[in-house]
Amino acid sequence: MAAPDPNRDAYIDLIKRTITNYTYLGGDYSPESFRSVTHYDVPNAQWKIEPLARPATLLTKNQLDLIEQCFISVQERGVPGDFIEAGIWRGGVIILLRALLDAYGIPDRKVFAADSFEGIPKNARAVGDPVDQWRDRWIASLEDVQLNIKRFGLLDDRVKFVPGFFADSLKSLANEKFALMRLDSDSYDSVEESLVYLYPLLSTGGIVIIDDWHLVGCKQAVLNYRARHGVTAELKTFDGNAYWVK
Ligand SMILES: C[S@@+](CC[C@H](N)C(=O)[O-])C[C@H]1O[C@@H](n2cnc3c(N)ncnc32)[C@H](O)[C@@H]1O
Repeated sequence: MAAPDPNRDAYIDLIKRTITNYTYLGGDYSPESFRSVTHYDVPNAQWKIEPLARPATLLTKNQLDLIEQCFISVQERGVPGDFIEAGIWRGGVIILLRALLDAYGIPDRKVFAADSFEGIPKNARAVGDPVDQWRDRWIASLEDVQLNIKRFGLLDDRVKFVPGFFADSLKSLANEKFALMRLDSDSYDSVEESLVYLYPLLSTGGIVIIDDWHLVGCKQAVLNYRARHGVTAELKTFDGNAYWVK
């Protein structure tokens, strides 16, 4: 059990408030209820805020808290492996994970950041996934993401980028081992591909977090994968995310 450390907790809390832009845009919301998507003009699918004010992550504070709790859990249980997010957009979760390595004094784990840096591809296999109708494909360039991480002073060789579409790029990780993986790629095909390539690399006792449990394609891809591979570990949900321990 990590010893209580108010300075560590204050640093991580400030990281969470900053990567969501809560400190800038939070208004009267509590950090727990604040969600950057509340700034989204749904009918026109346009951000109401200037591009430079866009947050580094779409996650809520609760979802960021879940990452920290899972991070602490695998660390305390000594689950071997690194951390990965597949579907990073502007890199806010990567910033949080890299900050957690410093905050908890962990010298021997790395953070992998996998993304096309060209947005979500249209489904090739799944039919009728509403994600295919989205206008915003959540594109952020590798250079922009690197700059975001650099601004926090956290861009170093313990952040490993895996650029490319998952169907091609994730094969390169076949010799890696992960303790915590976060899959956030929205569409049926993309979530399925990330599970096919990454889940076998998750250590026993490791945790997988699935974003977008409200998206039918994402949910179906996960349920189908679990059924196909006989995964019966208890699936829990929290603030729109699903997760289980392998
Ligand atoms: C909703 S965004 C991720 C949000 C991010 N995790 C955050 O903290 O806000 C979805 C991301 O998944 C990526 N993505 C989706 N499908 C992909 C695929 N098949 N291969 C590579 N990247 C993919 C997109 O480029 C995009 O950056």
